[in-house]
Amino acid sequence: MTAEKPEVTGFFDDATNTVTFLVKDPGSNACAIVDSVLDFDYASGRTDTRSADRIITHIRDKGLSVEWILETHVHADHLSAAPYIQERLGGKIGIGQKITVVQDTFGKVFNEGTEFQRDGSQFDRLFTEGDTFAIGSLTADVLHTPGHTPACLTYVIGDAAFVGDTLFMPDFGTARCDFPGGSAETLFHSIQKILSLPDATRIFVGHDYKAPGRDEFAWETTVAEEKARNVHIGGGRTSEEFVEMREARDKTLAMPKLIIPSLQVNMRAGQMPPPEEDGKTYLKVPVNGL
Ligand SMILES: [Fe+2]
Repeated sequence: MTAEKPEVTGFFDDATNTVTFLVKDPGSNACAIVDSVLDFDYASGRTDTRSADRIITHIRDKGLSVEWILETHVHADHLSAAPYIQERLGGKIGIGQKITVVQDTFGKVFNEGTEFQRDGSQFDRLFTEGDTFAIGSLTADVLHTPGHTPACLTYVIGDAAFVGDTLFMPDFGTARCDFPGGSAETLFHSIQKILSLPDATRIFVGHDYKAPGRDEFAWETTVAEEKARNVHIGGGRTSEEFVEMREARDKTLAMPKLIIPSLQVNMRAGQMPPPEEDGKTYLKVPVNGL
């Protein structure tokens, strides 16, 4: 049986280099959104819905029906617009079941009180390896692909795999593994799982930063291309070689600009922390805590 071919549209956010994907069932109006963005200016503390509105307008213009608002993981570089989109278009918000581990870790980092549930109940659905779900007549398969974070998932929808921050474009490589709960060795094994999908599988990556010699942003490649040419993992790199390279490189990377607000919001399925006694909402900065 040949795999179904969902129609995939990428929306690129310049501010955070994130790609949000709209995945449409060719046989109906059903669609899913993968990794949405709520714009946030940290200096002023102001949110903006420009990025999400662009996708909402597109979906309304085409008369699509949103069944799922998916997260590949708890992002550390942008805030999720999942609740904003859900309020306007419906759909269920899904993430990996290991979100509970992430909530536990960052619940401590941000000294959240007991009202912050660490059971993933802020999300509509928690997925584990082997789960399947429908987007109209399309079937989506869930792969647990940890390493960048403990909860990372890859959604395989027909012939398309949404790999989040496991693999990037072949000329850019792979994601960092130095956040709490990350592991280069674990990421290596997760990537092998993705690379064991059929060669023609389309791979859609969650971020792009261009690469030396490339002037355009790009987010679509294939399993065959990644296996042959990925600069961190291609050509049969061993686990030891990969781990050594990844760990050395991670030591040179600065924290993402929006990691502090992103984690506090995304571990709550994109909701802001509850308002304080004055009715206003605040985000914390743990001093020397990250
Ligand atoms: Fe990430």
